[in-house]
Amino acid sequence: MTAAGKIPEKIRKEIEQLVRDLNYHCYRYYVLDAPVISDAEYDREYRRLRDLEEKYDYVLPESPTLRVGAPPLEKFEKVTHTEAMLSLDNAFSYDEVREFDKRVKRLLGSDADMEYTVEPKYDGLAIELTYRDGLLYRASTRGDGYVGEDVTRNVRTIRAVPLKIEGPGRVPLEIDIRGEVYMDLDEFEKLNRQRETKGEPLFANPRNAAAGSVRQLDPAATASRKLFLACYGIGTISGLKLKSQAELISWLSEARFPTPARMKIAKGIDAVIDVVKEIEESRDGFTFETDGAVIKVNDFTVQQKLGVKTREPRWAIAYKFQAHQGTTKIREIRGSVGRTGVITPYAVFEPVRIGGVTVSRSTLHNWDEIERKDIRVGDTVVVERAGDVIPHVIGVVREKRTGRETFFPVPEKCPACGSRVIREEGEVAVRCVSLHCPAQVQEKIIHFASRGGMDIEGLGEKNVELLYSRGLIKHFEDIYRLKKEDLIGLPRFAEKSARNLIGAVVRSKHTTLAKFLFAIGILHVGEYAAKLLAKNFRSLQDLYHISAEKITNIKQMGEKIASSVAAFFNDDKNLQTLEAVMKLGLDIKNPDFAHGPDEALPLQGLTFVITGTLPKPRKEAEETIEKNGGHPSSALSAKTDFLIVGEEPGSKLQKARTLGVRTISYQEFLKLIEERSGHPRLF
Ligand code: IVH
Repeated sequence: MTAAGKIPEKIRKEIEQLVRDLNYHCYRYYVLDAPVISDAEYDREYRRLRDLEEKYDYVLPESPTLRVGAPPLEKFEKVTHTEAMLSLDNAFSYDEVREFDKRVKRLLGSDADMEYTVEPKYDGLAIELTYRDGLLYRASTRGDGYVGEDVTRNVRTIRAVPLKIEGPGRVPLEIDIRGEVYMDLDEFEKLNRQRETKGEPLFANPRNAAAGSVRQLDPAATASRKLFLACYGIGTISGLKLKSQAELISWLSEARFPTPARMKIAKGIDAVIDVVKEIEESRDGFTFETDGAVIKVNDFTVQQKLGVKTREPRWAIAYKFQAHQGTTKIREIRGSVGRTGVITPYAVFEPVRIGGVTVSRSTLHNWDEIERKDIRVGDTVVVERAGDVIPHVIGVVREKRTGRETFFPVPEKCPACGSRVIREEGEVAVRCVSLHCPAQVQEKIIHFASRGGMDIEGLGEKNVELLYSRGLIKHFEDIYRLKKEDLIGLPRFAEKSARNLIGAVVRSKHTTLAKFLFAIGILHVGEYAAKLLAKNFRSLQDLYHISAEKITNIKQMGEKIASSVAAFFNDDKNLQTLEAVMKLGLDIKNPDFAHGPDEALPLQGLTFVITGTLPKPRKEAEETIEKNGGHPSSALSAKTDFLIVGEEPGSKLQKARTLGVRTISYQEFLKLIEERSGHPRLF
C-alpha cells in the first residue's frame, strides 16, 4: 500500500504528523465543537498533506484525505452483525418506567436501588462501526438487526467518525461500536429548504434525512450532507475490558468518539425519572431531534444476567416524550416566493403554544399536499412540531367544519409581483418566472451574500430588505457599489457597523469559482454542483456559451442541472451582468480545477493508477491516459477511478479493493478508451 521505505524519513514523519494533527483538529471541530485553528489553516495543512501523499505515494489508512471521493456503488453489500443489533422496548408514562424498574429487580431477586444511566434518544439511523487493530474497517446499518448494509464509504465521509482509535490505554483488537447517525435540526431545515427550491421531495423528519443521506450509493452525495454521530453502545469487543455503560461512554469520549449529550448516572428509579424530566425539559434547546430518553442498567454483568427477550434487552427501556402537538385554526393561506421563483403555500394560524413555543404559521409545502390533506381556510387543524422545530399540519379535524371553509386555489399570479405563474408538466412546484419579481430579487441577493456564496457577514435577510427598500441594492452587483456614506444613518447603521459591512463586502471580492457559481444562484446549482463545475472548468469565461451536452459529460452531473447551467450561460443579459460584476474588482481563483477543459476526450475527468508490469512501458501507458484526457497518478486513493493491473501487481491491488476502486487489465483499459470514443456522455 505504501512506499514508506523509499521516502525520506523527514517526509514520512511530516506526513504522519500532518495526519495526526488534522485528525485532532477534525475532532476539535466536529466532536467538541471547539476548533483551535482557523478553517484556512486547516485547509492549508490538508493541501500540504494531499500534495505530499501524492508525490511520495504514501497514504496512511487513517488519512483525512481518504474521507472523500470514493466512486459510486451499484448496490450495498450485506453485512451480518456478529452480535444482533437490538431494538428497545418503549415506556409511554412514568408508571411504565417504574414497572420496568420493578421487573428488573424481580428478575434479579433484589430490592436494592438499581444504578441506571439515562441518555437522550437520538432520532437517526443506527450504525455499527467495526474497528480492527484500531482502524475503521467497516460501517454497517442496523438493517433487520441481524443483517445490515455495508455503508463504509459513506460513513467515512462523516467527519465525527474517527478513522483510527489511538487510545486511551490499549487499543482493542476488534470492537464494534454502535451509535446513531443523525442530522442536526437546522441542517435538516436547510436541506429541506434547498430541496423545496429545487422542487425535490422533502424529508419528513431529520431521521429520514439522515437515513436517506447514509443510504446513498454515491459517497459524494453523503459527503455533501452534514451528518453527526452519537455513540452509545458496543457489540463484539476483544482486547479491552469495560465494566459498565458509564465506563463505556467515558472510554468512547476519551477515544474521541462523540457520545450522547448529558448522559447521567442515576441510582433508584426516582432519580432516573428526575433525569428523564430534565432531558425532556431541555430538549427544545438541543441541536438535534430527540423523541425520548433511554434508560439502561449501568453494570454490564447485571445487563448480562437480565438478558434479552426476543429482540429487546430486558435491561433497557426507551421513555417516549409527549409529541409536540396542538390544534388551531387556519386564518389564511398565503404563498411565498423563493429565490428561484417557486411559490410555496403556507398557513397562517391563530397562534397556539406547542411544546413551549408559539406557532403561528407553517409551510404547506405545495398544492398537491394541500389537496391530499384537503386543507381549507378556516379549518381546524392538528399541528405538530415535526423535528421539534418546524411546524407541520398533520391533518384536518373534520368534525369542526362549519361549511364556511374556503378552498385556496393554485394561484395564477405571483403574490409578490402579480406576473403570471407557470407549472411545468410533472412538477409540483408553481413558479413565477418574472425577472423583475422583487421577492425573487431579494432572495437572490440574500443567497448571493450567504455563507456558502460570497460570505458577506452582516448582509442577511434584514439588511438586504432594508437596502433593497431604500433602492441601494437592486441587483446583486450593486453590493459592490455600496459606499460607507450610503449606509450611515440607516436604521441599525452607525459609523462602525457601516465600516464593518463595507469591509466584509471588500473581503468577499476574493473568492473561488465554486463559491461564485453557487452565489449567482443558477437554478438547480447547489454547492455541490458548483464545485463540480469548478473542478471541470478553469474559469468563469470557459462557461460562457457552453452547451448542455458538454456539461452532461461531467461525471455525476445530471441533465436537469446541465440544461439549467447552459441556459444561464447562453443568456446575453446574464453574461453582461457577470462582466459588470467582474469589472467591480472581483478576484476569482479556482483551486478546485482538476482536469483539462476538453470534455470531449474519452477519459476526461478520470484518474488512473498503475500497478505491476504492463505490456507497454509505464511511461507510454501514462501518455495514453493523458492523450485521452485522463489523469495518471501514482497515488492510489478513494478518488482514483481505475487501477490498471499488470503482471505481479503490488500492494496497491489490495488497497484498491479496500477502497472500492475499480480494477482493470491493460486490455480492458484500451477497450475502455475505444468504448468511450464517440460517446458524448461518459457515464
Ligand atoms: S441503545 C439494546 N441508546 O433507538 C440497546 N439506542 O428504538 C440498543 N437509539 O435501535 C440501543 N439513541 O437506533 C440506545 N442513546 C441511545 C439511543 C438509541 C437512539 C436508537 C437505536 C435503537 C433504537 C431503538
